[in-house]
Amino acid sequence: MALILIMSLALPMAARSFVVDLKPRQMVLRVGDTQHLSCSAKDCTESATFMWTSFEDKPLSGTIQNPSALESLLVFDPVSTAHENLVVCKVSCGHELKQQHSTVKVYSFAKDPVIRGNDPMLMGEVNTLTCEVPEVYPPEYLEVEWVQGDSVLHTDEGKADKSTVLSRYEYTPTPEDNGKAITCRARHTFEGLPEDKNTKETTVLMNVRSPPRNTSITVSPAGEHKEGESVTISCHTDSVPVGRLVLRRVSGDQTVDLQSSPSSSTSVTLPSIQLGAIMSITVFITMMLCFAHSPGAHPLEVELNPGVGVITVERGMSFVLSCRALDCPKPVFFWKSPLDATIRSRSKTKGNLTELYLSPVELKDEKAYTCEVKCGSVVKSKRTELKVFSFPLDPVIESSGAHIVGEASTLRCDVRDVFPAERMQIEWLDEEERVLLLEEGSLFSGLQNLTSELTFTPGWAHQGRQITCRASLQVEGLPRNQTVRAAVTTVALSYGPRNTSITVSPAGEHKEGESVTISCHTDSVPVGRLVLRRVSGDQTVDLQSSPSSSTSVTLPSIQLSDSGLYRCEALNEHGNETTSTQVIVKAPPRNMTVQVLPSSEVLEGQNVTICCKWVSYPPPAVILKKPGNGTELYSPNGTFLLVNLMPSDTGLYQVNVTNDLGFETEVFVISVMEKQSSPPPNSNDFIFPAIAVGALVTMATMAGLVAYNLNQARKRGSYELTKTTPQTA
Ligand SMILES: *[C@@H]1O[C@H](CO)[C@@H](O)[C@H](O)[C@H]1NC(C)=O
Ligand SMILES: *[C@@H]1O[C@H](CO)[C@@H](O)[C@H](O)[C@H]1NC(C)=O
Ligand SMILES: *[C@@H]1O[C@H](CO)[C@@H](O)[C@H](O)[C@H]1NC(C)=O
Ligand SMILES: *[C@@H]1O[C@H](CO)[C@@H](O)[C@H](O)[C@H]1NC(C)=O
Ligand SMILES: *[C@@H]1O[C@H](CO)[C@@H](O)[C@H](O)[C@H]1NC(C)=O
Ligand SMILES: *[C@@H]1O[C@H](CO)[C@@H](O)[C@H](O)[C@H]1NC(C)=O
Ligand SMILES: *[C@@H]1O[C@H](CO)[C@@H](O)[C@H](O)[C@H]1NC(C)=O
Ligand SMILES: *[C@@H]1O[C@H](CO)[C@@H](O)[C@H](O)[C@H]1NC(C)=O
Ligand SMILES: *[C@@H]1O[C@H](CO)[C@@H](O)[C@H](O)[C@H]1NC(C)=O
Ligand SMILES: *[C@@H]1O[C@H](CO)[C@@H](O)[C@H](O)[C@H]1NC(C)=O
Ligand SMILES: *[C@@H]1O[C@H](CO)[C@@H](O)[C@H](O)[C@H]1NC(C)=O
Repeated sequence: MALILIMSLALPMAARSFVVDLKPRQMVLRVGDTQHLSCSAKDCTESATFMWTSFEDKPLSGTIQNPSALESLLVFDPVSTAHENLVVCKVSCGHELKQQHSTVKVYSFAKDPVIRGNDPMLMGEVNTLTCEVPEVYPPEYLEVEWVQGDSVLHTDEGKADKSTVLSRYEYTPTPEDNGKAITCRARHTFEGLPEDKNTKETTVLMNVRSPPRNTSITVSPAGEHKEGESVTISCHTDSVPVGRLVLRRVSGDQTVDLQSSPSSSTSVTLPSIQLGAIMSITVFITMMLCFAHSPGAHPLEVELNPGVGVITVERGMSFVLSCRALDCPKPVFFWKSPLDATIRSRSKTKGNLTELYLSPVELKDEKAYTCEVKCGSVVKSKRTELKVFSFPLDPVIESSGAHIVGEASTLRCDVRDVFPAERMQIEWLDEEERVLLLEEGSLFSGLQNLTSELTFTPGWAHQGRQITCRASLQVEGLPRNQTVRAAVTTVALSYGPRNTSITVSPAGEHKEGESVTISCHTDSVPVGRLVLRRVSGDQTVDLQSSPSSSTSVTLPSIQLSDSGLYRCEALNEHGNETTSTQVIVKAPPRNMTVQVLPSSEVLEGQNVTICCKWVSYPPPAVILKKPGNGTELYSPNGTFLLVNLMPSDTGLYQVNVTNDLGFETEVFVISVMEKQSSPPPNSNDFIFPAIAVGALVTMATMAGLVAYNLNQARKRGSYELTKTTPQTA
């Protein structure tokens, strides 16, 4: 089976080529800026149509402006991370379609690092310093360094899924560290970022604190004291920063503040100590430590259902994306999605759960959705990306016309409402699953009706063969066989009549009166018309005409007149075929008539012509005799010429017409009247004695075979003898 395949991608070539100019071919954009891509159709002399799509199956965002008929702009205002894409500008100029692509990369690095945990720091303890760089994209390109003086203390990198880059550094400060600077330096290493914009740093001073420790009180001189002695009472403490020392005397229920000083040491000298005083000294240190409320107070968790990552949904289906906040008493939810202002109105929040309703799912719903939950000062988010596909119906195979042997034939396979059309593959397969033609989907975006055409030239071998059109849509996240649909068609060839036959039953020759059936059969697609005709001589009689592939005619009693050529003509729109057969009916001679011209009563010396007519098949032998005279005349056509008749030729004549089925005879009279002055007869022809007409009648009656009507015969100038049955004679 040799199929001739013609790939038909239906993209006729334009007469002149044009050029798609997409500028710039590579962009690194900063989130928040306004930028655009310009696509123009150079040398396009016809009207240009622009289409912006993306190579990846990421939805394309941005606004399209067409400043002129030959230029289109894709404007990013403001630039967002959703704009990161491999953007394709497709231009159709007349019938020609061309495209260019441009890589759009996006970065975000707008905010300076924020250091926390430096104010205050607890001296001598492990303190966690954090450096947070918010709104970084792509975060995995961010490097964070902790720097003090010339030394790098610690380095960190951003994590791919966290736009806020957080670096922690554990630091155990000494009292000397108080007031020292520490720097968090963030460097965005994304390729294409301008040098002067790729580093941001924040320096803070460490505020090291310590509550009073090692507080001591000393009395000098030591030991007991005599009244009047000079005694110094000193107080010392270690605290950062230096706080206040209060030296207080408590005697009984009386408290006297002796000294209060903002220092770590104080002393009071009593120049003359008094007797009997029991003194107890208390040192009060005032100090304030302020601890910022640190993140992590609530262990908030965000749960997205049906999940994070990429979720594939069929267009038209009902889809609900739910977001749950765990471990948060009063969560506040925000749904975020690029270029979707309606997102708020499509969501419902109740308690710990918010649901986003996408019912029915539309193509435009294909984007990323972020659920952001705020719990007190803690914010967490989860993101999921929705992929939409559409492939609702099985392909439909249509034939552009009849399949005619030897003529190119085209099958069409239509697949409706496909998305993404570029992911569709249409294969034509034969019964052995061999690929006859494979076509990839359309480059056009949006819902598409796709058509693939298979052109082949059928031969007889294709009859009844099955051809399959298999359409498969590659959808991320779905097994390949879930998005495969097929249609099968069986090749039914159309052809003109063939094997047309005509049969006569019973076969062979027929005797008159037999029942004979003439059948006609043909093979044609579509069924056309069969016409059964009889042709005898130049006369054609339509016996039957039927819109079918078989027809027959039964002649219950076939007659000689039914003999002839029977023709069966089969025809349909693809041709015609004729076949024929001869039907032979045999019959003994009958319905005989004899004419004697010019008359059966002639004068001597005249000539007569005897014309015999009959019906029979096969042709008979015709013999003219004069009974009593042994001579017989034969005529192939039943015409006899008797010349120069003599009165002696008068008498009865007999014509005997014989074939192998039987014979028929006619007897008639010729009277030759003597001419008054005629010369004596010298003919070699029949010479019969003249007899009376009356005697003829008697003879005929006696013979029981012949009757004749003299009156009629005279009117016509001839005798016509008609055979009658003996009963009616
Ligand atoms: C307290 O005294 C001990 C020993 O003299 C010393 O190691 C420690 O650093 C002192 N504490 C403070 C807070 O100065
Ligand atoms: C919300 O979640 C918190 C903690 O997970 C739980 O205690 C509370 O009952 C939940 N509230 C509702 C309305 O589900
Ligand atoms: C696809 O074809 C159907 C039927 O002809 C039509 O109703 C529908 O709008 C077409 N869809 C597209 C995307 O052209
Ligand atoms: C798809 O193919 C997998 C194996 O490749 C098979 O397990 C599964 O049943 C198939 N599903 C359908 C719908 O044919
Ligand atoms: C029709 O004729 C072809 C050859 O002309 C023959 O091979 C085929 O068997 C015939 N079919 C029928 C149904 O008679
Ligand atoms: C039969 O076919 C021949 C050509 O093959 C055509 O000339 C003729 O007109 C056709 N006869 C009929 C009755 O269609
Ligand atoms: C023969 O004659 C009979 C009557 O005698 C007539 O009905 C019939 O049609 C004739 N047949 C022919 C073929 O002339
Ligand atoms: C009769 O026929 C013969 C031969 O054909 C011819 O010679 C002759 O003249 C004819 N006679 C008459 C009276 O016509
Ligand atoms: C009959 O045959 C003869 C010769 O055999 C011929 O002369 C004559 O013309 C024929 N008659 C007719 C009517 O055919
Ligand atoms: C006519 O001829 C046939 C065959 O020669 C013969 O059998 C038959 O008897 C003849 N008929 C008459 C009435 O002479
Ligand atoms: C029959 O006719 C021929 C002439 O045609 C003649 O010669 C013959 O004598 C005749 N025979 C009889 C018995 O009359």
